[in-house]
Amino acid sequence: MKKVDVGICFVLYLVCFAVSVESQSSPDASSMLALRESIGNPTSLGWSDPNPCKWVQVKCDGSNRVTKIQIGNQNLKGKLPPDLKNLTSLTILEVMKNQLSGPIPSLAGLSSLTDVLFNNNNFTEMPQDFFTGLTSLRKIYLDYNSFSPWQIPETLKDASSLQIFSANQANITGTIPDFLGGDTFSVLEQLHLAFNYLQGPIPLSIAKTITSLWLNGQNGEPQLNGSIAVIQNMTALTEVWLHSNQFTGPIPDLSGLISLKQLSLRDNHLTGIVPLSVLNLPGLAIVNLTNNFLQGPTPKFDTSIVAVDMNKGTNSFCLDQPGTSCDDRVNILLSIVQPLGYPAVLAEDWKANDPCSPKPWMGISCLNGSITAVNFQNLGFSGTISPNFSKLPALKELRLSGNSLTGTIPNELTTLSNLRRIDLSNNRLYGKVPNFSKNVDVITDGNPDIGKDISTLSPPPGGPSGSDSGGKKSSGSGNKNSNTGKVVGSVVGAICGVFIVGIGVCLYARKRRRTSRVQSPNTVVIHPRNEGDGNAVKITVTGSSVTGGGSESHSITSSGPSDLHVVEAGSLVISIQVLRNVTNNFSDENILGRGGFGTVYKGELHDGTKIAVKRMESGVVSEKGLAEFMSEIAVLTKVRHRHLVTLIGYCLEGNERLLVYEYMPQGTLSRHLFNWKEEDLKPLEWTRRLTIALDVARGVEYLHTLAHKSFIHRDLKPSNILLGDDMRAKVADFGLVRLAPENGKHSIETRLAGTFGYLAPEYAVTGRVTTKVDVFSFGVILMELISGRKALDETQPEDSVHLVTWFRRMHVNKDIFRKAIDRTVELDEETYSSVSTVAELAGHCCAREPYQRPDMGHVVNVLSSLAELWKPTKPDSEDIYGIDLDMTLPQALKKWQAYEGSTIDDSSSSLIPSSENTQSSIPTRPSGFADSFTSADGR
Ligand SMILES: *[C@@H]1O[C@H](CO)[C@@H](O)[C@H](O)[C@H]1NC(C)=O
Ligand SMILES: *[C@@H]1O[C@H](CO)[C@@H](O)[C@H](O)[C@H]1NC(C)=O
Ligand SMILES: *[C@@H]1O[C@H](CO)[C@@H](O)[C@H](O)[C@H]1NC(C)=O
Ligand SMILES: *[C@@H]1O[C@H](CO)[C@@H](O)[C@H](O)[C@H]1NC(C)=O
Ligand SMILES: *[C@@H]1O[C@H](CO)[C@@H](O)[C@H](O)[C@H]1NC(C)=O
Ligand SMILES: *[C@@H]1O[C@H](CO)[C@@H](O)[C@H](O)[C@H]1NC(C)=O
Repeated sequence: MKKVDVGICFVLYLVCFAVSVESQSSPDASSMLALRESIGNPTSLGWSDPNPCKWVQVKCDGSNRVTKIQIGNQNLKGKLPPDLKNLTSLTILEVMKNQLSGPIPSLAGLSSLTDVLFNNNNFTEMPQDFFTGLTSLRKIYLDYNSFSPWQIPETLKDASSLQIFSANQANITGTIPDFLGGDTFSVLEQLHLAFNYLQGPIPLSIAKTITSLWLNGQNGEPQLNGSIAVIQNMTALTEVWLHSNQFTGPIPDLSGLISLKQLSLRDNHLTGIVPLSVLNLPGLAIVNLTNNFLQGPTPKFDTSIVAVDMNKGTNSFCLDQPGTSCDDRVNILLSIVQPLGYPAVLAEDWKANDPCSPKPWMGISCLNGSITAVNFQNLGFSGTISPNFSKLPALKELRLSGNSLTGTIPNELTTLSNLRRIDLSNNRLYGKVPNFSKNVDVITDGNPDIGKDISTLSPPPGGPSGSDSGGKKSSGSGNKNSNTGKVVGSVVGAICGVFIVGIGVCLYARKRRRTSRVQSPNTVVIHPRNEGDGNAVKITVTGSSVTGGGSESHSITSSGPSDLHVVEAGSLVISIQVLRNVTNNFSDENILGRGGFGTVYKGELHDGTKIAVKRMESGVVSEKGLAEFMSEIAVLTKVRHRHLVTLIGYCLEGNERLLVYEYMPQGTLSRHLFNWKEEDLKPLEWTRRLTIALDVARGVEYLHTLAHKSFIHRDLKPSNILLGDDMRAKVADFGLVRLAPENGKHSIETRLAGTFGYLAPEYAVTGRVTTKVDVFSFGVILMELISGRKALDETQPEDSVHLVTWFRRMHVNKDIFRKAIDRTVELDEETYSSVSTVAELAGHCCAREPYQRPDMGHVVNVLSSLAELWKPTKPDSEDIYGIDLDMTLPQALKKWQAYEGSTIDDSSSSLIPSSENTQSSIPTRPSGFADSFTSADGR
C-alpha cells in the first residue's frame, strides 16, 4: 500500500512540475523560433507549441533552457540562423543528413556544447572562429558538406576535450596542424580527414591517443606526403587509413601497435622491406599494400586471419611467392640503402631478384653476376654510409659524391680487396678517413668536417632520404606523384560522362560509326537539353540501323536524385605507366575492339593475368561525369559474380580514364551470333545458346537480388556479353548500372541511356526504370539467340526491322515459328521443344507492361530446367548460386555485410553519427548498401 502512495505522490509531483514548467516560457524561445523560421517551419517537425521545450526533438533543462536539438535526417532545407549562438545551455546539436545550406553559424562561446553533428548537408562555409570557446566539445562531425575551402583553424585549440574530429570530404585545405596533439589534445580518438585537399606531412606531434586515423584519398596536388614513421609511436591505433596519398619512406616498426586491425597503406610511394612487426601484429585483420614501391621478400601474412590486399602493382618485391627470401645480392643492396631511407628513385627501379640482369639496377654495374660498381652520385641522398658495402667483394668502384651523407666512413670498407676508387666528395661526412690500401683512390673533398672528431654541421633537414619526416624532401622520390596528383584537378574538369552518355555525346556517336568494330548500334543518347535547364532531357537516336535513320527526339521531365554517391575508390588504382607497358603503349595490334566510349586493348600484367583495358576518349567537361565514373567503379568493385566480368582496376591520370577488366578470349556474343561467318567461327549450337542465356540470366539475377538494394544494368545486349574459352558467358559493361529503386517503386531517370531495340517501352517513353527494364532486354537477347537476328535489322522489310514485333508475329503460329528459328540450329524434336519454351519465355520477358514480365529468378528457373537436360553429369557446385570465389550468395552477402558492418555500423567509425548517449526519437536509418557509398574508405 505504502508503495502505491509513494508512486501516486511521485506522479502528482511530476504533473505539478510539468505544469509549472509549462507556465514559464523558455528564455530560448526567440532563438528557437528563429531556427524554426530559418528552416522553413516544416510541418513534418510538428513544432507548433509556443514553448520550444515541448517540441519533439528538443530538450530543455529545469530552467527551460534548450539543451538538445536533435533534428538529423529530417529532410530539412534552409539555413541555420546566427541566433543559435544565444542558446548558451546547448549541449547537443544534431542536424546531420539534411539538405541544410548556407554558412554554418558561429557557435563561439557555447561552452556547454559537447556534440555537434553537421555532416551530410549542403553547408557552404565553415567559420574560422567556430571553435572559439567550445571548451566542452567532445565530438564534431562535418563530413560531406560542400564548404568553400577552409583550413583547420587555430581556434580548434580551445576544444581540447575533443574526442572525435570527423571531416571527411569537407574541402579542407592546408596542412594537418601540429597542434592536433602535443599537450593540447590529450583525449583525441578519431581523426577522420579523408578526401580533402590536405598536403604536407603527418605532424610528429599528432595525438598519440588516436585510435582511428583516416587521411586517405586527398584530392589535391600535392597530397599528404613525407614519412609515416610517426605512426610507430601511435600505439592506440586500431585503424590506419593512409591510402591514396604520396607518403614516402619505409613502413616503420609497428610492434607497439598491438590493437591495430586495419592498416591501409596502398597507393602511396612507400619503399623498403615490410617489417616483420607488421606480420606479427596480433589483431591485424586487413592490410592493404598494393601499389607502393615496397622491396625485399613479398611478405607472407596468415591469410586465414588477415585479408591482404597486396597485388604486386608497382611494388618492387623480389619474388612473387610470399615469404621466399631474396637473392643475397638483393639483401645486401637493400641493407645498404636502408640507412639512406630506401630512396624512392632506387625502389622504383630495383625490380625482381637479380641486380645484374637482364639490365643492371640503377646505380649498379656488374661483371658475370657480381657487383663491381655502385654509383649513387648526385642523387640527393641523406643518411649514413652502410658498412655492408664490404659484403660486395667484387666492388671496384664506389661513388657516393654530391649527396648529403652524414656520419663517418665505415672501417669495414677497407676490407674490399678489389676496390680501386671511392669517391665521397661533397657530402657532410666527418671523422677519420680509414686506412685504405695504397691502390685505392680515396676522394673526400668537400666534406668540411672530414678528419674532425665531431660534425659541426647542422643535421641535414629531415632524416634519411626516403623517410624524412619534417616535410622536406631530398630524393627524387617520385615524378609519379605529380601525375597522380594532377589527376583530380583536371579530371574534375575533363571527364565526360564516360559511361552514362553525357552532353555532347553525339560527337562520340558520329565517331563511333566510323571506327566501330565492336558495334553497338543505335545507341540512344539522352542528354540534358542544356545544363541550366532543370531536368528536361533530350533523346537522340543515333546510328544508322533504324529505317529512316536520322534522329528522333522528345522530352522527358523527371526528378529524383541519383541513388549513387560519389566515392573515391582508391582500391584498384593502376598507374598509367603500368597500363602503357602492358599494352605496348596502346599499340594498334593490341586493339580488341572499339566501342561507344573508347578503345579496348589487350594486355598482360606481370603476373600473367590477361586483361582488357578500356581507354575512354577524353571528352566534355563534367564534374557529374567524374562522379558517375567513380560510382560505376564503386559498384563494380562491390559486384562479383562468375557471370559478371570482373573489374581488375582502373586508372585516372591526367586526361586518361581507363578501366581494366578480365580478358575474355572469345569476345562478344554478337560476334558468335551475328558475325560468325565473317569471323570464320562456327555457328553456336542450341545447347551453347541455352547455356549462355542461363549464364547471363544468372549474372543479371545476381545484380537484381544482391541485397536489399539491387542494381539495374540498363544496357544488356549481345555486344555486352563476353565469352571465355569455355564459351561460358559473362555480362560486361556496367557503364549504365543504376541502383534499383525500392521494391514496388520506380525511379525516373533524368538521363536515359541504353540501346535502341533493347529498350523497354516504358523506359524509352517515360524514363521509368525498374529491374524489369533488364528483363525486357534479356527477352530481346533470347529472341536473338533463337532467331540469329539482330534486335534491329535494317536489311529486313520495314515491318520486320524490329525484332520484338516480328518475333511476336512469328510466334503465334507453330508452322511459321519454325521459320523464325535460326537456320544454323539443328532442329530435332527435343531441341524444338526447348526452343519453343525459350520463345515462350522471351515473349513474357518482352511483355509490354513491366508487371507482366517475370523476374530474373523465374527466368533462371526456366532456363536451368532446360539446360539440365544437357548438363554434364559432374555436378558443378558453384552453379547452384553462381557465385564467384567459391562462395554462395548468402555467404557472400554475409561476408559483405560483416564487412560493411565493421566500417559503418560500428559507432567508432560511423559516418552517420548520432550521439550515443542521447536518444534521437527518429533513429538513424540502419546502414544499408547505399550508405556504404558514403563510406570514406574508398572501397
Ligand atoms: C541573440 O543575441 C543577439 C545579441 O546578443 C541579439 O541581437 C539577438 O536578437 C538574439 N537573438 C534572438 C533571437 O533572441
Ligand atoms: C544538396 O546536395 C545534394 C548532393 O550534392 C544535392 O543533390 C541536393 O540537391 C542539394 N540540396 C540543396 C537544397 O541544395
Ligand atoms: C571546394 O572548393 C572549391 C573552391 O571554392 C569548389 O570549387 C569546390 O566545389 C569545393 N568542393 C566541394 C566538394 O564542395
Ligand atoms: C611534400 O610536398 C611539398 C609540396 O609539394 C614539398 O614541398 C615537400 O618537399 C614534400 N615533402 C616530401 C617529403 O616529399
Ligand atoms: C617515438 O617516441 C620516442 C620516444 O618518445 C622518440 O624518441 C621517437 O623519436 C619517436 N619516433 C617517432 C617516429 O616519432
Ligand atoms: C583493403 O584490403 C581489403 C582486403 O583485401 C579489401 O577488402 C579492401 O577493399 C581494401 N581497401 C582498400 C581501400 O583498398
